[in-house]
Amino acid sequence: MNNAGISGSREQLPTTSDLDVIRTVVETNVLGVIRVTNAMLPLLRRSPSPRIVNVSSGVGSLTRQVGSVGNDSAGPVAVAYSPSKTFLNAVMLQYVRELDGTGILVNAACPGYVATDLNGFRGVRTPQQGAATPIRLATLPDGGPTGGFFEDAGVVPW
Ligand SMILES: NC(=O)c1ccc[n+]([C@@H]2O[C@H](COP(=O)([O-])OP(=O)(O)OC[C@H]3O[C@@H](n4cnc5c(N)ncnc54)[C@H](OP(=O)(O)O)[C@@H]3O)[C@@H](O)[C@H]2O)c1
Repeated sequence: MNNAGISGSREQLPTTSDLDVIRTVVETNVLGVIRVTNAMLPLLRRSPSPRIVNVSSGVGSLTRQVGSVGNDSAGPVAVAYSPSKTFLNAVMLQYVRELDGTGILVNAACPGYVATDLNGFRGVRTPQQGAATPIRLATLPDGGPTGGFFEDAGVVPW
């Protein structure tokens, strides 16, 4: 379960962006996931039920970002955080392709808007509620989906 992540600074307008913030967010949310995944792969390859779950976010959905132009339906404009999750999803699909046929199921989960440090506890869901989809994906039966992006309500559009 790749859960560690950061949101970066509070204000992330692209026109006034701090490149160091973008770099740090990508370092943690994307490169950190690659590092941890690759460190764990030898163990996963020996597991009878290997699963990789990346805790992503619906704000990384390009479809939802396009749909949110003119309204606030996909969260605030965030030039570091949102694209870091899009990047993470794209990286995940490369793992899905490379690991095809190994039995390792690789999926992304959005926990929803959860009250945590990440958002100053403004989220409306509890951590227990946010954990439901990640846990479901971490405990998928053999032959379950791989290369998907899920939230409690179902599939998140790319
Ligand atoms: N909260 C939401 O509404 C929401 C929505 C969608 C997706 N997510 C995603 O859910 C995941 C968990 O976030 P959260 O809401 O639970 O936030 P959180 O309470 O801030 O927890 C983030 C966790 O990541 C760890 N972490 C951050 N940077 C790290 C690093 N460089 N190395 C190792 N660990 C690091 C933190 O460890 P320390 O405490 O030691 O710093 C902390 O345990 C994140 O990937 C986030 O993007 C959250």
